[in-house]
Amino acid sequence: MTETKFSTTDSGAPAPSDNNSLTVGPDGPILLHDYHFVNQMAHFNRERVPERNVHAKGSGAFGFFEATEDVSQYTKAALFQKGARSEALARFSTVAGEQGSSDLARDPRGFALKFYTSEGNYDLVGNNTPIFFIRDAIKFPHFIRSQKRLPDTGLQDWDMRWDFWTLQPESAHQVTYLMGDRGIPASYRTENGYGSHTYLWVNAAGERFWVKYHFISEQGVVNLTNEEAAALGAQDPDAHRRDLFNAIKNGEAPIWNLHVQMMPFDDAADYRFNPFDLTKIWPHSDYPLIKVGRLVLDRNPENFFAQIEQAAFEPSSIVPGVGFSPDKMLLGRVFAYSDTHRYRIGPNYLQLPVNKPKVEVNSYDFDGAMRYDFNVGQPVYFPNSVGGPEAKEDLFAGSNWSADGDFVRAAYSLHAEDDDFGQPGTLVREVMDEAERGRLVETVASTLDGTGVRDEVKQRVFEYWRNVDKGVGDAIAEKVQAGAAPSAPAPNAP
Ligand code: HEM
Repeated sequence: MTETKFSTTDSGAPAPSDNNSLTVGPDGPILLHDYHFVNQMAHFNRERVPERNVHAKGSGAFGFFEATEDVSQYTKAALFQKGARSEALARFSTVAGEQGSSDLARDPRGFALKFYTSEGNYDLVGNNTPIFFIRDAIKFPHFIRSQKRLPDTGLQDWDMRWDFWTLQPESAHQVTYLMGDRGIPASYRTENGYGSHTYLWVNAAGERFWVKYHFISEQGVVNLTNEEAAALGAQDPDAHRRDLFNAIKNGEAPIWNLHVQMMPFDDAADYRFNPFDLTKIWPHSDYPLIKVGRLVLDRNPENFFAQIEQAAFEPSSIVPGVGFSPDKMLLGRVFAYSDTHRYRIGPNYLQLPVNKPKVEVNSYDFDGAMRYDFNVGQPVYFPNSVGGPEAKEDLFAGSNWSADGDFVRAAYSLHAEDDDFGQPGTLVREVMDEAERGRLVETVASTLDGTGVRDEVKQRVFEYWRNVDKGVGDAIAEKVQAGAAPSAPAPNAP
């Protein structure tokens, strides 16, 4: 039998008691100098960090990414060189709900990855959809508030959602995805992940390509109907968290195969869609999928708070061989994430074990709350004449594009086939079958009937869907006007 350890205070001294506080006689008041008691009260009061402003409910696991194919003609990034294996962390999430909300919501799912590479951390913070609701980061706070809660009642609200979406027709593609079968995955294991944005890849010769990432689930894509999700959610709102944890515990490590679409750098100017617009996909017939490697998740966290809640993903963490693109959403996100981490976890969040790169860090960032890692003898300023580290500027050479224009506040330039409803129309007509279109109509109608959506907003919703597809729009209008829609699920609960 192992000997029971004695408990201690946080400073390591034997704890005076875990049963009784120090009082004046057995029935008297508690004494302020019972430091152990006071410390427990105070520490408890500080046990939570703010939850993520979006994607608050999530689950994660560790594993590795292995590059199995030769894509060196496109990128010099070490993690993508054939045979390279990098430790990885994945966090899956819903978007609009709070930490305790249901996993079964109709909502996009976050698909956030951190690769601990030999060149520093590479974070790819995507979703289970290849597109998004908006195309300019300035709209993001408005979009998210419309998905969250009303300021007075504190309730989620379909009127607010449809009001926003219909006034932003660029949302149509993502909303079509969301209202279709993929809006409620059966589990985190049975969904694909996408980098969503267009990124830049640079090879060793300095040649540039535009790239989109697709993580295709080896478990297949499996979704739930509204009824299945409602039943499962009522029984187990943590069903997806449980499924991921148990699968890994039982040795069924989920796998995603990474494929990329590669666009030669100069194609971007004349491509039929603006290739940086996050509301558009590049049809595979234009740019086919090329396999790169596989992501395997085979290790559960041992402490949810330390390893998943404090995990900090940020699109700004890139490595040589990868760059950003002129996507205005991506450029906004490059600022947003590290900023929120400084607020949510503190300025030295990258020193926490889950976020700490697995390479030597020689940054000139200095001090700050909770700093404990430091390089002995390293100067604190640059330039210096005492041998401090120097940037290897050539490693990121070419990871850029050029721009030359007046400062403007303008929409993207339109390419030949750019319009907000074209691609969602194709999704409805060519990707969905008759049965899925029927479920889409039912789902949308259920959000409009008896849910307090104002009449003028309803009329806009009918028009919005008629613009996506006349038949689908008419069917939704008919169902709602006949009062024949199924009873509505609350926005973020099944
Ligand atoms: C989380 C901002 C667009 C995917 C977050 C968080 C913020 C944020 C502040 C919370 C991060 C944290 O506290 O750890 C933004 C802004 C956007 C944007 C300003 C637009 C300009 C997107 C898009 C995607 C995305 C387009 C996917 C393609 C995610 C994911 C998480 C997240 C997956 C959760 C990361 C995790 O698991 O910790 N976002 N976001 N976001 N965002 Fe975004």
